Amino acid sequence: MQRIELLASLAKGSNSLLDLGCDHAYVLTLAINKYNVKSGIASDISDGPLKMAKENIIKSGLEDKITLIKSDGFNNINLDFDTCIIAGMGGILIKDILDKGLNKIKNSKLILEPNKDSKEVRLFLNKNNFSIIDEYAIYDSNKYYEIIISKYGHQELTDFEINYGPVLLKKKPLEFIKFYKEKYNFINNIISNIKDEFEKNEKLKLLNDYKIIIGEY
Ligand SMILES: C[S@@+](CC[C@H](N)C(=O)[O-])C[C@H]1O[C@@H](n2cnc3c(N)ncnc32)[C@H](O)[C@@H]1O
Repeated sequence: MQRIELLASLAKGSNSLLDLGCDHAYVLTLAINKYNVKSGIASDISDGPLKMAKENIIKSGLEDKITLIKSDGFNNINLDFDTCIIAGMGGILIKDILDKGLNKIKNSKLILEPNKDSKEVRLFLNKNNFSIIDEYAIYDSNKYYEIIISKYGHQELTDFEINYGPVLLKKKPLEFIKFYKEKYNFINNIISNIKDEFEKNEKLKLLNDYKIIIGEY
């Protein structure tokens, strides 16, 4: 629940929050009930999640504050929103959804939580003139998550910042360091067994990156 709580808290004070790929809509109902979000849109591509979302919205007493919309990405989202959360999907899917909805997201704050491939999301944001204004790293049930907060506006980023997160690299939260220390230790333990030169060089490059992140350079 730590991840859901953090996501909801990051939408604090928003007037209209779009929870795209809402599933059960836990994030949206929590954001309205606890973090002063005025109203919201719960949307999902599938009927099963929308049914669960509806049940949760009724249980939370929020039928008058949340609109449910079946939509593939932003396709059927024609209501205004000032904040959009897309969480719990792969980075490539999040990137594709943002790409197809580009004309609908330029005035909103984006709260993005890719379960993997966060680099793809940062690369997309950077190429399309979005800035990364904050980032978070957390563990929930022993799984590591990164959250990216973004707004429309140009930002210069290095490849290293796109790969690992410009704000995470500055703030260096403990969870971020722990994640890369574990990755470093894992590769360091197996590298001597790798025979293929190409693979070995790729792993050495990663070790160099991880050393920079964990501060051993
Ligand atoms: C693992 S759930 C994540 C739920 C919630 N956002 C969270 O972070 O806990 C992913 C949800 O995204 C929905 N989804 C996948 N592709 C989608 C798309 N193209 N448009 C809208 N929803 C999508 C799925 O149906 C599913 O309910």
